[in-house]
Amino acid sequence: MSESKTKSDHNHHHRGKSSEIFLDKNKILANLPIVPSQVILDAGCGNGYMAKEFAKLTGKMGKVYALDPDTVSIDILRTETVGTNIEAFIGDITKQTELTTSSIDLVYISTVIHGFSGTQMAGFVNEVKRLLKSNGKLAIVEIKKEDTPFGPPLNMRFSPEELRTIIDLNPTQLVEVGEYFYMQLFGK
Ligand SMILES: C[S@@+](CC[C@H](N)C(=O)[O-])C[C@H]1O[C@@H](n2cnc3c(N)ncnc32)[C@H](O)[C@@H]1O
Repeated sequence: MSESKTKSDHNHHHRGKSSEIFLDKNKILANLPIVPSQVILDAGCGNGYMAKEFAKLTGKMGKVYALDPDTVSIDILRTETVGTNIEAFIGDITKQTELTTSSIDLVYISTVIHGFSGTQMAGFVNEVKRLLKSNGKLAIVEIKKEDTPFGPPLNMRFSPEELRTIIDLNPTQLVEVGEYFYMQLFGK
């Protein structure tokens, strides 16, 4: 990625923001290879609305980890998900998390990485590679790198082509998931 893209560019705030109303949730779910008993990580889960969908699909034998550095979001999600297969915890996906190596079938990360510096992006890729099982998948949902009525400055965004260059996993599908968003999938 461009070295000129630094954390100091990150002058917008995520707290309390969700892309939920702009994303085509059904299209996202239809294009994710989720089956019962899987283990999924929703990295940067925010209010956890997708973690809750993943929990329905993975079922009682599955597990959904919902990670976010925002303590308020995690506290609320923990309260809401008591007794479910969702485990919400505070963490940073750009660093090594408390999760076990090769334990995750799918890492899902939606509208989070545009805030990452080059160092954070490298840390994120390392951690995803550590966490994924050999047949695991990574799904990145991001805002398109074009004029949109909202969203971060264009120089903070990644096009799918840029992601495919930066992330040394095997790109598979690219899907439009709402007027302003795409989902790029990768295999290990
Ligand atoms: C725009 S919100 C998106 C929330 C949710 N994924 C969605 O699609 O609505 C970005 C989220 O990423 C979280 N976040 C920011 N930096 C992160 C990091 N290094 N690791 C994990 N989550 C992070 C923020 O706390 C925030 O909840």
